[in-house]
Amino acid sequence: MRKPLISGNWKMHHNHFEAIQTIQRLAYALSSSDYENVDVSVHAPFTDLRSLQTVIEADDIPISLGAQHSHWENKGAFTGEVSPEMLAKLNVSLVLVGHSERRHIFGETNADINKKVHAIIAKEMTPILCVGEMSEEREEGRTLEVVEKQLEEGLSQVKPSEVASIVVAYEPVWAIGTGKNATPEDAQEVCKAIREKIVSIWKGAGEDLRIQYGGSVKGVNAPDLMKQNDVDGLLVGGASLDPDEFSRIIKYRLLD
Ligand code: PGA
Repeated sequence: MRKPLISGNWKMHHNHFEAIQTIQRLAYALSSSDYENVDVSVHAPFTDLRSLQTVIEADDIPISLGAQHSHWENKGAFTGEVSPEMLAKLNVSLVLVGHSERRHIFGETNADINKKVHAIIAKEMTPILCVGEMSEEREEGRTLEVVEKQLEEGLSQVKPSEVASIVVAYEPVWAIGTGKNATPEDAQEVCKAIREKIVSIWKGAGEDLRIQYGGSVKGVNAPDLMKQNDVDGLLVGGASLDPDEFSRIIKYRLLD
């Protein structure tokens, strides 16, 4: 059985004071039975990570620390960048790779993303590889073609045993931050295709692979999305900034 993973992507929100307050409120809202059912991660801005690490470790909070981005080199003349080695040193365990905002605003390519995936795995962290189509691509009926190419190129040369333990997040670009979430059936269709594609290339990896859906997830739509066979978790942007709403999503079983 795949244990669900629900991740909060804070994007460029919350300074380190706000981050400390948010993680403490979130931890207060969650109980041990929630963590038994669901793995939880928060992906905070770089400037928050040291403060969050300190609070998580001091208070023994079972939330995994996540980053939103990383370079692929471990050190060097890359002004403004942060390396996988630096993140691992802060006990970061999951790193978003290829988020649509990184692809479309900052021009990350599948080749860049592939180097990051390898570098993150090499430091024993888990990449969450984000894939998803733009609205024009969906209208042209090219959703699966786009997502499959992002998977093939993003995971090129990754071993099947490593693919089994990464996370893929399916986030249709038109659903991110727009309030228009994919229907549970649409999310299931693409997440199923992702698993089938992974099985066809990396034999044996697909059954254990966790696939998240992301894009305008809220407490009200989380239960139906999580009912889908191939949706093993959620990647939550805006709604993860509010600990009350994010905890409602994590407790999706109780909302049903
Ligand atoms: P959203 O963002 O939940 O605000 O749509 C999701 C994401 O970008 O990961």
